[in-house]
Order: sequence, then structure tokens, then C-alpha cells
Amino acid sequence: MSNRHIIVILSLISVLSVAYAIGRDGGVIKGYQPIKDLNDPYVQGIVKFAVDTYNEDGNHIKLVKIDKGESQVVAGTNYRFTISANDTKHYLTIVYDRPWDHYRALTAFVAVPA
Ligand SMILES: *[C@@H]1O[C@H](CO)[C@@H](O)[C@H](O)[C@H]1NC(C)=O
Repeated sequence: MSNRHIIVILSLISVLSVAYAIGRDGGVIKGYQPIKDLNDPYVQGIVKFAVDTYNEDGNHIKLVKIDKGESQVVAGTNYRFTISANDTKHYLTIVYDRPWDHYRALTAFVAVPA
């Protein structure tokens, strides 16, 4: 097999795997991807914002641990976390973050089963 054939086959494989990823996830743009580093200070700032905003509504919880974190790039980024709080509950929270104009909004903060 010539080098040229190998290049054609490799390109075909990469096109097919991208197509597979899009199909499986209902669109790369729409999908939530796991956040690799939950200790990243920027990520921690997003979670802190969620808890602080939730507490502004008369709640008094404290973050114990981030159980899970995912993000979705839109015109900005949606961050989705499940967290544990000191009231022994777990919460699902979504924060919309647009770093270029420092806009951040809490989209969801609800208690979920452990
Ligand atoms: C959780 O922490 C907050 C803030 O420190 C405190 O006001 C609240 O009483 C704590 N709740 C529990 C259940 O310990």
C-alpha cells in the first residue's frame, strides 16, 4: 500500500470518528463534557458563585465537596455541577459564565437525591 493510500484511509477514519462523536452526543456544540480539573481556581470560583448566589436567597449552606462537574460551550460556557453541602444534601447547579464581559448567572440550583 502506498503512503498516499494510507493518508486517504487515515483521513477517512478521522472524518468518521468526528461524525460518530457528533451523532452520539446530539451535536458537539450541545454536549456537556466532563471538567478535567475540579481544583482549577476558575472552576472553584464558579461553584462558589453558585453557592453564594443560592445563599443570598435566605439559604445557609456551605460547600463540602464537588461531586461532579461538566461544562458546555455556548456563546459563553454553561457549567453543571453536583455538589455536597453541610446540610448533608446534594445539589445540582448550573452557572452560565461569559468571561469576556464578566457576566455570570445562576441558572439552576436544586437538591437532588444522593
Ligand atoms: C452550614 O454552614 C452554614 C455557614 O457556615 C451555617 O450557617 C449552617 O448552620 C450550617 N448548616 C449545618 C446543617 O451545619
